[in-house]
Amino acid sequence: MTIPTFHLRVNDGTKIPNIAFGTGTALVHQEDAQKILECAIANGFTHFDAAQRYKNEAVLGAAIKASGVPRSSLFVSTKFAPLQVGQTAKTALSASLEKLGLEYVDLYLVHAPSDHVGRLKEVWKVMEECKREGLAKSIGVSNFGVEHLQEILEDAEFLPCVNQLEVHPYMWDCLQPVMAFHKEHGIITSSFGGLSPLFRAPGGPLDPLIERIRARLEATRGKPVTSSQVLTKWLQQHDIVVVTTSTKADRMREYVDTGDILELTAEEMEEIESAGAERHQAFFKPTKYSFNVGASATQVRGNSQL
Ligand SMILES: NC(=O)c1ccc[n+]([C@@H]2O[C@H](COP(=O)([O-])OP(=O)(O)OC[C@H]3O[C@@H](n4cnc5c(N)ncnc54)[C@H](OP(=O)(O)O)[C@@H]3O)[C@@H](O)[C@H]2O)c1
Repeated sequence: MTIPTFHLRVNDGTKIPNIAFGTGTALVHQEDAQKILECAIANGFTHFDAAQRYKNEAVLGAAIKASGVPRSSLFVSTKFAPLQVGQTAKTALSASLEKLGLEYVDLYLVHAPSDHVGRLKEVWKVMEECKREGLAKSIGVSNFGVEHLQEILEDAEFLPCVNQLEVHPYMWDCLQPVMAFHKEHGIITSSFGGLSPLFRAPGGPLDPLIERIRARLEATRGKPVTSSQVLTKWLQQHDIVVVTTSTKADRMREYVDTGDILELTAEEMEEIESAGAERHQAFFKPTKYSFNVGASATQVRGNSQL
C-alpha cells in the first residue's frame, strides 16, 4: 500500500515525513511487536520513532529487514536513554545502530533533558559529532523546554532540527513559549500523545467540538472520518510532525489516511484551542518535569519511560 506522505523541511535541509509510527507506548509491552511493525510498513508508514528506552530497536530492525523496503525509502529515528558510566551519546548510537541493523539513523534525539542535568552542552557536542560523522543525518531533542534549548544553543554548531513534545489541545497553552522559540529558530515541533484527550481523558471539553467537526468533515468527504483524524489534522495544519502508534491495522490505515481529509477551517482550529485551554493536563512524566504541569499531570499506564 503506497500513500503519499507530506514532508516538512527541517533546518539542516533534510525532509521529515509528517506522520510517524512510534515503537513506545502501545508496543513496549507487546511480545509480538515485529508483526505489528511489519503491518505498519505494509500500511504505508515510512517514518519510525524508536528509543533505547523502549527496548525494541532490534525488533524494529528485524521488521525493516523482513519488509524488503529499501532503506532509502524509510525515515528511522531513535533516542538515547540515560547514559551509563563511560558511555556517550555516540557509543549509545553505535549500540542502537547495531540493534537496528542500520548504518545510520535519519534522526537522533536526546530523549529527555532530565536525564542529563548540568551536562546538556556536553551531550549536544557529542550529538554534533554523530551528525558530522554521518551516523545520524539529523539531530534533535525531546521534552526540551525553552531553558533547555537556550542552554544548548549557546555553544551549538548545529541547531536541533526537531523537538519532540507531548502536544494536544490540553497542553497547547503551556507550550506556547516553546513553540514561539521553535518558530524563531526554525525548529520543527514533533508530537506524541496527540490523541490523549480522546482516549486517555474522554468526556472533556473537547469531545463535543471534535464530534461536530468530525461530522462536518464526514458529510463533505462522503466516507467515514474519525475523531482521531480530526485531532491529527489539527496537529498537521500547525506543521507539527505526528508521532502516533497502534496495535491494529485498521487504525494504522486510518492514521495515514488523514492526509486525504479536508482541512479544518481557521475558526475550527481556534475553537479546538479555546476548548483545550479549559483543561490543563499532561499524560507523560517527562512533560511534567520539563513543563511544570504539576499535580494535574497523569501518567499513562503507570509507565514513565515513554
Ligand atoms: N519522546 C517521548 O518522551 C515520548 C513519550 C511518549 C510517546 N512517544 C512516542 O510517541 C508514540 C505514540 O505515542 P502515543 O501512544 O501517546 O500516541 P497517540 O497517538 O496519542 O495514541 C496512540 C494510542 O491511541 C490508541 N487509540 C487510537 N485510536 C483509538 C480508539 N478509537 N479507541 C481507543 N484507543 C485508540 C491506540 O491504541 P490501539 O493500539 O488500540 O490502536 C494507541 O495505543 C510512542 O509509541 C513513542 O514512539 C515519545
